[in-house]
Amino acid sequence: MATNILEINELNVHYGDSHVLHGVSFELKEGHLLALMGRNGAGKTTTQLTLSGLLPVSTGDMRLNGKSFAKQSPESIAKSGIRLVPQGRRVFASLTVEENLIVAEQKKGSHSKWNLSKIYEMFPALKPKKDQRSGTLSGGEQQMLVIGRALMGNPSVLLLDEPSEGLAPLIVQEVNNSIAKLKNEGLSIILVEQNFSVAKSLADDFVILNTGRVAYRGSAQEVAEKPELATQHLGIF
Ligand SMILES: Nc1ncnc2c1ncn2[C@@H]1O[C@H](COP(=O)(O)OP(=O)(O)O)[C@@H](O)[C@H]1O
Ligand SMILES: [Mg+2]
Repeated sequence: MATNILEINELNVHYGDSHVLHGVSFELKEGHLLALMGRNGAGKTTTQLTLSGLLPVSTGDMRLNGKSFAKQSPESIAKSGIRLVPQGRRVFASLTVEENLIVAEQKKGSHSKWNLSKIYEMFPALKPKKDQRSGTLSGGEQQMLVIGRALMGNPSVLLLDEPSEGLAPLIVQEVNNSIAKLKNEGLSIILVEQNFSVAKSLADDFVILNTGRVAYRGSAQEVAEKPELATQHLGIF
């Protein structure tokens, strides 16, 4: 049995007076990919931002390897190994591809796994463009670059928020293949994904949010056996 790398317990989060997450609880097992799903406005991005320390926790707890990080700053959460690739791809457009990667670098002693050559190995399309300003890249290449930036921080948990949004189908395939490779390399991942078939092809576990509450939690096996329990909360398929 894989151990829990992340434990989210009874999380309540507000935007000002607006109560958005209501008692959200789930776990991410080490080396697993968890698909975080739900309709628009369900609270997926809010969850990812909260896990990254970018939104304050009102009540509840978040633990990484058993240690609470609910009150830590975004910088210290990133340092401890949780890296977010936010929704809507943001690169430093005026920096080159390689500069974008170098500024994101965070060495973790002798355990450092990611470096420039490994990133170019994972995303071969980036290598010939390494000296180009990243603002000139295609949407797909920018997505690879922002994932590459997160990897340069040598994370143990990668949070991806709709990485395929707005990309052409062939590029989506390429991005999803890279996500599968990252999982195979042992990274623990929370992937916000709108497409249920894509989620089924990648995920070990599913959490479906509905208006800021966990409406469904299940393993890949449970979803394969009774997909209707999941799809009733997605409302799109
Ligand atoms: N900056 C904000 N201020 C106030 N409400 C927000 C803000 N961002 C999102 N919300 C609200 O929080 C809820 C969850 O949004 P979000 O987490 O972005 O959903 P999802 O990513 O699942 O589409 C929605 O009702 C949304 O309108
Ligand atoms: Mg969102």
